[in-house]
Amino acid sequence: MEPYRIKAVEPIPFPSRGDREQALTRSGYNLFRVPSAQVTIDLLTDSGTGSMSAAQWAAMMIGDEAYACSTSYERFDAVLRGITGFPEIMPVHQGRAAERVVFSTLLGPGDIVVSNTHFDTTRAHVEATGSQALDLPSPEAADLDSDHPFKGNIDLGALTDLLAGPDGHRVKAVVMTVTNNGGGGQPVSLENLRRVRAVCDEHGLVFLLDASRFAENSWLVLQRERGHGYREPVEVARATFDLADVFWASLKKDGLANIGGVIGVRDDPELARRFRQRVILDEGFSTYGGLAGRDLEALAQGLSEVTDPRYLADRADTARWFADSLHKAGVPVVRPAGCHAVYVRAGEILPHIPAHRFPGHAWSCALYLEGGIRAVEFGSLLLGSGGGSAPHELVRLALPRRVYTRSHLEYVVDTAVAVGRIADELPGYRIVGDSPALRHFTAVLEPAPHAG
Ligand code: F0G
Repeated sequence: MEPYRIKAVEPIPFPSRGDREQALTRSGYNLFRVPSAQVTIDLLTDSGTGSMSAAQWAAMMIGDEAYACSTSYERFDAVLRGITGFPEIMPVHQGRAAERVVFSTLLGPGDIVVSNTHFDTTRAHVEATGSQALDLPSPEAADLDSDHPFKGNIDLGALTDLLAGPDGHRVKAVVMTVTNNGGGGQPVSLENLRRVRAVCDEHGLVFLLDASRFAENSWLVLQRERGHGYREPVEVARATFDLADVFWASLKKDGLANIGGVIGVRDDPELARRFRQRVILDEGFSTYGGLAGRDLEALAQGLSEVTDPRYLADRADTARWFADSLHKAGVPVVRPAGCHAVYVRAGEILPHIPAHRFPGHAWSCALYLEGGIRAVEFGSLLLGSGGGSAPHELVRLALPRRVYTRSHLEYVVDTAVAVGRIADELPGYRIVGDSPALRHFTAVLEPAPHAG
């Protein structure tokens, strides 16, 4: 059961079928453009959508809004140094701000960055420097049915081959994203991370850790990986951070707050100085990084709560129960479930819709029309900007932290089953208005009832 009770509640909207149809049409069939007042259950993202604890709300009242070196910064810095062991901690306003600072400092045209899977903003910031972002997910990730425990790993064989090949000298850094959001929210093993460290040492590469969901990854390592000798999630987290040269995180996830991000540098004062200069230019003075003092307080408290084993056990159990319930009801999902989301295999539900007509998007629109549930396509619309198609046509049902109960998720399962009943009738979609980067946020679409 949830290891907390509810102290404040917020009514949820119940738009009528007619309201939903109008909202979807008006949005250009893009769920990012649907007003949240027209959404009953919002599973668009687990980012910045969590509920704060009573202790976090209380901490916000003592936020110190001094421009420089506030006591709230000192608390934020102390908590993060305690968890990560990194001496240099810089707040930024969210994850992609950290990515911009890190990549614009480290990379130049022609460089290659390798990852277990770049998240969309990570890829966009690598490419904005003229570098190439290369995904080398582990081969096990391709099998959506296998119960391999660490489908978020990087393919070490492919990494070694790349480094030995003609482009090997262009590789500057490896980004390990834990958990692997672009790769089905799957965890990365400590073993895999340790071997990446060894490869980085051998080839003089920078090991970059995207730690946005570090606590959830640590929990899944504790549950699934034998022989590491750790007993507490916080110990696994520390062992993970110990392997990286630089880390960043969107703290809108495991920071348990609604805004925030961070960059950490281990033992390179010159690099830390260059990052800090960029933070001052882009974000604000380097002890607030675009955040209010009260945000730093909420984050310091949230980061102290997120490694609680009872909280993490409930989060992982809920995701597993949700995935199992969908599976038993005949809705195919990626298994095993991670923590932050369940990924529905929409391509298999809608085999009559080809990749270029976005079956994941079609399924998401139907889920919204049937039950006012908002999810996000993780298929060829999100991943295929260059005209390519995604390896799998998925829809992510993300789980905001401490927000929805199991009865809300039972409603989602029932609605997904209802969509399955009308699957044959659902149209694909075509893009009628596009943008060059991160197109899924702004694209305008229309139903395309015929496949061509
Ligand atoms: N890295 C990862 C692994 C992420 O999942 C995200 C955001 C970011 C970086 C960027 O952080 O949003 O704070 O700027 N993921 C959200 C999501 C948006 O819905 O998965 P941000």
